[in-house]
Amino acid sequence: MAELVQTENSVEQKEYPPLENPPYHVGIIMDGNGRWAKQNGKSRFEGHKAGTENLRRTLKSSVEFGVKMLTIYAFSTENWKRPPFEIMGLMKILENVIDTELEELNKNGVQLRHIGQLERLKPIIRNKVLYAIDKTKHNDRLILNVAFNYGGRDEIVHAVKRVIADNIPPDEITADLLSHYMYTADCPDPDLIIRTSGEFRTSNFLIWQAAYAEYYITPTYWPDFDKAEYYKALQTFSRRDRRYGGRNE
Ligand code: FPP
Repeated sequence: MAELVQTENSVEQKEYPPLENPPYHVGIIMDGNGRWAKQNGKSRFEGHKAGTENLRRTLKSSVEFGVKMLTIYAFSTENWKRPPFEIMGLMKILENVIDTELEELNKNGVQLRHIGQLERLKPIIRNKVLYAIDKTKHNDRLILNVAFNYGGRDEIVHAVKRVIADNIPPDEITADLLSHYMYTADCPDPDLIIRTSGEFRTSNFLIWQAAYAEYYITPTYWPDFDKAEYYKALQTFSRRDRRYGGRNE
């Protein structure tokens, strides 16, 4: 396995020179599976499956390009509004990914985490997610946060409720404290958020954490967002001048 990674790296290094300043934490809104399916005469489910295949490729590229943390928007709190058949398909994909990919992810040093609420998921899926989190908790090559039944507003409400339940006095409430009550408590804020399929909106993804994230939006549908375009997104990021509201003289 190590040999395989090494072989790949040496081949790919030639095509993709190391980035000077890769983002540590990348968030991805994997949009456009449905439109990709329509364009290719396939069902929406097949579109989501193609999106899952692309995720597998993106994980490999993330390790190669020096990204240490990836947060993917797999199912939002608003996605419950979709037809039951499509919701079932997305749940099935999550279950299948754990069943079929966990060993490989674990071997490749990926630490799986979840952000959002697991409570609404079927116990069998919830337990599989918890098992995967526990099994990979010591891995440190790439941290993969799966946002599933996640919404930024829901996260903020959830955090505020916990602050109140902990009897935190108003004077002690700071942005830093609130950050520690978010689902992403021990994650640095995302540096770069990629959104595929050309929509210019946050769709409730990491709205607290992305205050100073750089955005990269491409018209490419998620299943077609390949390694070359991922590299381009990271390269674009590494040339941006991040000022965080201050000035870089
Ligand atoms: C948005 O495309 C995509 C989603 C709502 C689901 C994303 C899920 C995957 C890529 C599968 C990976 C999942 C897991 C659990 C690892 P859309 O359906 O809104 O596309 P459209 O806007 O073109 O209709």
